[in-house]
Amino acid sequence: MTDTVQRDELVERLFTAGITMGEVLTVYLGDVLGLYRALSTRGPMTPAELASATDIYERYAREWLEQQAAAGLLTVEDPAHPEDERRYALPAGHAEPLLDPESAYSIAPFLKSFVAISGAMPQLLEAFRSGGPVSWAAYGRDMIEAQGDFNRPWLLASLGTEYLPSIPDLHERLSNDGSRVADVACGVGWAAISLAKAYPNISVDGFDLDEPSIELAKANAAEAGLSDRVTFTAGDAADMAVEETYDLATVVESIHDMSQPVAVMRSIRRMLKPGGTCSWPTSAPRTRSRRRPARPSACSTRTASCAACRRAWRTRPRPGRARSCGGRRSSATRRRPGSTASRCCRSSTTSCGSTGSTVSRRNPDRTDPTGGGRARHAGVRC
Ligand SMILES: C[S@@+](CC[C@H](N)C(=O)[O-])C[C@H]1O[C@@H](n2cnc3c(N)ncnc32)[C@H](O)[C@@H]1O
Repeated sequence: MTDTVQRDELVERLFTAGITMGEVLTVYLGDVLGLYRALSTRGPMTPAELASATDIYERYAREWLEQQAAAGLLTVEDPAHPEDERRYALPAGHAEPLLDPESAYSIAPFLKSFVAISGAMPQLLEAFRSGGPVSWAAYGRDMIEAQGDFNRPWLLASLGTEYLPSIPDLHERLSNDGSRVADVACGVGWAAISLAKAYPNISVDGFDLDEPSIELAKANAAEAGLSDRVTFTAGDAADMAVEETYDLATVVESIHDMSQPVAVMRSIRRMLKPGGTCSWPTSAPRTRSRRRPARPSACSTRTASCAACRRAWRTRPRPGRARSCGGRRSSATRRRPGSTASRCCRSSTTSCGSTGSTVSRRNPDRTDPTGGGRARHAGVRC
């Protein structure tokens, strides 16, 4: 390939990326301001009607509607009319990805996470220069919500109903009265909620460094009517003073975020009852492949690792730093010594939700009906 062909291809590609980034920002506006929701529930609207329904400024509503129509995200019912009188509609097929947080096709949280990363750019620039940390708080509430909603579909659809039941001895143990589960680095609580829903006799305690995440997790558990069996506590999992208490500890997509993963895993080992199990399910794609350019899912994982996952690194440096999430997949289930070994989950599958199709954990790119959508989700989740 000649230099000029390379140049032209790069310019075209990054120009398209810039346009797409602009669309990400405007989708964020429509998501957070409730514009898509209003169009979905009330039907096609003029700018004035949308502005009135969502309490935003009419001129900006018109700008947004025109941009969304130009991008093909909305349709215009009567393009020949003057701008003020045109009605804009949300196509039926666009409602689920933009508005249903429990759908396997939910895409708004993925986009929201990039907006959150953009907001943390000053801190990221400083961290790249100094080698210092970028705290989770720097990414703001958008990132907490995006992370939670990103994992929510597969956690609610699969963790307690498919993933853990595929490990028979663990499933049997959780089906017993009084079993206790710790969800370490629980975020906003969807794994704990999924487990408590699936196993009505267990209680689940979630732990996370991030206090705003814990507050949101408590609200989510209350809304699910599970506050009596699901608790959440803010704190460093490496410092847990709990011993031989839990039958199962889960760590969902968090180990590579930690500044001290070995200390956390030691702490988990102490927390487990003899014969207890630690499971760290993840839908993160396998990225050991040296294929370059990498597949979209691997690119997404690398981007997340570069711009977001470093947040906890070096905030509390200890031996045993986590790997880059592009470095090696970490999905396994381990038993505390003294019991028969539990199955490693590497060959299990993660449901892709409402379609009933599955994403192979060995190669998410191959079978994902969204063309790698869940796998891309998995990347930003890290
Ligand atoms: C990528 S998020 C995953 C959250 C949740 N498990 C999920 O799947 O949505 C990683 C989480 O790890 C938490 N975390 C990192 N280090 C931790 C530590 N030492 N103790 C407790 N939580 C920690 C962060 O605060 C963050 O909420």
